[in-house]
Amino acid sequence: MSAKPHTLIAPSMLASDFSRLRDEIRAIDAAGADWIHLDVMDGHFVPNITFGPDVIAAMRPHTTKVFDTHLMIAPCDAYLEAFAKAGSDIITVHAEAGPHLDRSLQAIRALGKKAGVSLNPSTPESVIEYVLDRLDLILVMTVNPGFGGQKFIPAMVEKVARLRKMVGERPIDIEIDGGVTPETAPLVAAAGANVLVAGSAVFKGGTPETAHVYAAQIAAIRQAADAATRS
Ligand code: DX5
Ligand code: ZN
Repeated sequence: MSAKPHTLIAPSMLASDFSRLRDEIRAIDAAGADWIHLDVMDGHFVPNITFGPDVIAAMRPHTTKVFDTHLMIAPCDAYLEAFAKAGSDIITVHAEAGPHLDRSLQAIRALGKKAGVSLNPSTPESVIEYVLDRLDLILVMTVNPGFGGQKFIPAMVEKVARLRKMVGERPIDIEIDGGVTPETAPLVAAAGANVLVAGSAVFKGGTPETAHVYAAQIAAIRQAADAATRS
């Protein structure tokens, strides 16, 4: 029997102390983060503004972990190269961000990066039916994008299950974003998700000096998810 790979946890830097990004990124790396999730918001596609490629480039020297860049910006095509150069390993665009999703995904791969698509809660999974072969990752929003600390939307569990079926044997990660906790993680893991973003559930109550808090919170989410997929 081959060992099943454990669920990957991608802490979102959105929930970290922005005045201490270097210390936070080192702490979250040491605490066992698998990927680092970077939420880019433009105040247009979503009602909030965060950071851009220069801030990502400034974080890049402080960890070798995968940089999982989630672009909540529209339009996105003109900025893909900048986010690639800043050190992103995966670049995810929203299906709702523009009329030419196929083109955006091709552009990301042409930059030598892994290509992801994100779906808002109200967007049906059918929008990616014809771009599956251009995808490395599907990011399922389980809250409306724009802010951390929101409540998980349970109706998304069904969408995850449908996506897992649609993906079949293709090597595409299914990642969940929004309201992930040790309570909600098992629901999406059982439905077929293998990467979980978590902001507040990882960073709450900790600081770079008390990174054991981050480590315990990452481990709790991972264990809850893994327990749900063990048969
Ligand atoms: C929301 C972002 C999320 C956010 C998740 O728009 O895409 O990545 O950081 O935060 P939590 O885990 O607190 O819901
Ligand atoms: Zn995100």
